[in-house]
Amino acid sequence: MNALHRDLTRLVPRIEAEDRAKVDADPRRLRFHLMPPTGWMNDPNGLCWYRGSYHVFYQYGPFDPNGGVKFWGHWSSPDLLHWTQQPVAMCPDQTWDIHGVYSGSALAEDDALYLYYTGNVKYAGDYDYINTGRGHNLALAISRDGVQVDTKQLLMENKDYPDDLTCHVRDPKVWKQDGMYYMVLGARTKCDRGEILVYESADRLHWKHINTITTPEVFGYMWECPDLFCVDGQYIVAMSPQGVTREGNKYQNVYSCGYFPLYGDFRGEYTLGEYIEWDTGFDYYAPQTFEAPDGRRIAIGWMGMPDADYTNPTAAENGWQHGMSVPRELHWTGTCLTANPVRELDALHRSRRTLSFDGVAQCELAAGADIRIHNRGESLHLMLGDAAAVEYGHGLLTLTLTETSGSGRTQRVAEVDHLSELRILADTSSLELFVGGGEQVMTTRYYPSGPVSLRIGGQGEAELYDMDAMELAYMAE
Ligand code: FRU
Repeated sequence: MNALHRDLTRLVPRIEAEDRAKVDADPRRLRFHLMPPTGWMNDPNGLCWYRGSYHVFYQYGPFDPNGGVKFWGHWSSPDLLHWTQQPVAMCPDQTWDIHGVYSGSALAEDDALYLYYTGNVKYAGDYDYINTGRGHNLALAISRDGVQVDTKQLLMENKDYPDDLTCHVRDPKVWKQDGMYYMVLGARTKCDRGEILVYESADRLHWKHINTITTPEVFGYMWECPDLFCVDGQYIVAMSPQGVTREGNKYQNVYSCGYFPLYGDFRGEYTLGEYIEWDTGFDYYAPQTFEAPDGRRIAIGWMGMPDADYTNPTAAENGWQHGMSVPRELHWTGTCLTANPVRELDALHRSRRTLSFDGVAQCELAAGADIRIHNRGESLHLMLGDAAAVEYGHGLLTLTLTETSGSGRTQRVAEVDHLSELRILADTSSLELFVGGGEQVMTTRYYPSGPVSLRIGGQGEAELYDMDAMELAYMAE
């Protein structure tokens, strides 16, 4: 590794240690979600189980709570509950990743962890020029212990991708299947069509473009962070499309993220089913999935949104921003995926209370709470202090934040035919609503001014669990 690598890997822990007191003083630090030690976090990267631990790498901007040049930060855990901060896994230290070690994935084989990522290079002049403004290089880093990266190498550059593409080709997701290696890459064509390139390799190093997955009609101009996996016998192709315009209650965020069921062969002839959004809250983007050692397909998404038109108070006041969703177990119902918090989180339950309501009921909540509502009425009304309202009626589930608690964001709506089960994971500054057994999810950050009480109006019962905090062991400690 070179001198730049040495300097950057020394600098990051120093900055984290300097910022520690300011970050820790923030009452909005999350209790059971992953966050950056300081600065900025975006996409989950390299999710895997390797040598007895779960690994969550992520897009990390340690020097700037509003982004900046990207590193790969790293948390590891034996059980998805106790997390240990690891040294930054990758720094921008090569000519071909100098402006950011962008998103990618992990392939865990017995002897090593192979980390595929996009090396971002901004060219002089207009680096936002979509055809040639930047280099998006496919790179491979290898770790023999799951912590230190020993080697990095460049595998492909812009000239190696199909001719009809702009310079936006990124976010490799790699897996092994039938004795071969496969990779999907997100791309933007020169005609502004989002698509996914499918590659095949026999040796993990030399990749051949074998197929392209896209929709018959253009659906957004760029597909970021693609994923392709099989769950309960159904192939799913997932991505975060940019440039999809809002249609009523669909695609309410500046960028969407969702999936298509894929029928046929991703390597050859295929058709795509209907696009389904992963989440209809304000903050869920660039999710990645991986297979847990017991075969579960688990997704983690970035609890944030690029280019969102709001200022997160944690950035301005305490020098950090964003977090990850809880890990969610996926299943295919025959028509859609369900996503529900992994059962490991139940170990954080500290107490159980039940609340029957026939009319209005109220109770105090701990800073972290798991609220499971069994609704028996035609409508339901829930208030979390005066910071958030969740209302159901006439086929719509509405999440409303105030000007202050939403930092300028106010409302998201989900179309829900029938509501019998609603689960809410409420952390100090996030809400995740799981509707109807996880068929729909709404994720958002919010900023209440202090602990919130719960007020429910309607008919039904609620089970309430106060949640212990997950253990985050920071390196500086
Ligand atoms: C998605 C994304 C990726 C890119 C990364 C850079 O949020 O734009 O496409 O690799 O973030 O941080």
